[in-house]
Amino acid sequence: MSSTKIADNLYWVGAVDWNMRTFHGSTYTTRRGTTYNAFLIIDEKITLVDTVHAPFARELIENISSLVDPSKIDYIIANHVEPDHSGALPELLKLCPKAKVFGTAKCRDGLAKYYGVAMDFQVVKSGDTLSLGKRTLSFLEAAMIHWPDSMFTYIVEDQVLMPNDAFGQHYATAFRFDDEVDPAALREEASKYYANILWPFGTVIAAKIKEIQKRAIPIKMIAPSHGVIWRKNPAKIIEQYGAWAQDTMKNKVVIFYETMWGSTEKMARKILDGVLSEGVEAMVWDISKIDRTDMVNEMLDAKGYLIGSSTHDNDMLPLMAGFLEFFKGLKPKKRIAAVFGSYGWGGGAIAGMEKVLRSAGVEIVLPSQGIQFAPTADELNASYQFGKEFARKIIQQKSS
Ligand code: FEO
Repeated sequence: MSSTKIADNLYWVGAVDWNMRTFHGSTYTTRRGTTYNAFLIIDEKITLVDTVHAPFARELIENISSLVDPSKIDYIIANHVEPDHSGALPELLKLCPKAKVFGTAKCRDGLAKYYGVAMDFQVVKSGDTLSLGKRTLSFLEAAMIHWPDSMFTYIVEDQVLMPNDAFGQHYATAFRFDDEVDPAALREEASKYYANILWPFGTVIAAKIKEIQKRAIPIKMIAPSHGVIWRKNPAKIIEQYGAWAQDTMKNKVVIFYETMWGSTEKMARKILDGVLSEGVEAMVWDISKIDRTDMVNEMLDAKGYLIGSSTHDNDMLPLMAGFLEFFKGLKPKKRIAAVFGSYGWGGGAIAGMEKVLRSAGVEIVLPSQGIQFAPTADELNASYQFGKEFARKIIQQKSS
């Protein structure tokens, strides 16, 4: 993708990674690929905000070269040390070795450890500004959104916020702006991104949004480091982040299970019917068949979860164990759950699932339902009642 004008003398010079299918190792399925956004400001001081993932360094350099000679770059802003944004920095610095790099102290330390490349680095803090000539950059530290080194950069005169990972989406597209793409796809990718990357940091995000609102910073555009730029109504995505950060939830239940011989699956389907009978939104998934990234996205606005596993070796099945450990890392708040499952000669899965959920801060609100071998008609009726009762708990639960 060639460079794109964002505003007068402000250009997108990043890269579109059409083929990326897993991100952060295997933790995130990027079905629509991703982008690594970098922005070039042409002013008295030529300034680049962020770079791209190392395999795309050539693309970044070509995009910059279509506008200015890269050796003319005076400043590079490193909002975040993670390699998807800093990976091309060593290659770029070969072309502009005198460019001064700006970022947080933690970013400086991280860059040194990742690349071991000498650079003229200036540490900046919240409230620091940098004059580029006609424009001024203002920096805002954003620790834990989502790494300790993270930082936002704001172009005062253009009213453009460059918040790096915040407000991003893993969404490869030929378009650069939110009003050019399918709104449903954009909503899905923005939500999935928040759920899988930013969910653990809700408290920090809520505080940062308050800080931005208190400072009354006018924002015309939000240009994150992944996906499209929010220009249609940037306040809307800020408002949406506020809602997610405050755990705004719906009367919704995500039911998921792992089954050995189909008995736990039969229970799950009856449980679904029970939940639905109370008018509560619900869905049921076999976790061996569903994408984990999509499931976490659905879990973000659900008040509760019903989780099932057959017992194997006196514990839950391995995919469920892996998923619950991952889910624990998202540090969910205010969610409720109950567990169920079939067993042969012992029922260790129930205790195992409850233990992980409690350690994740999820409240278990109903006694579990365990059945031996295959469910009888009476036991399936009990599963239906189990779902119904859980749905009533959901209705009683606060929405945020
Ligand atoms: Fe935290 Fe997009 O890297």
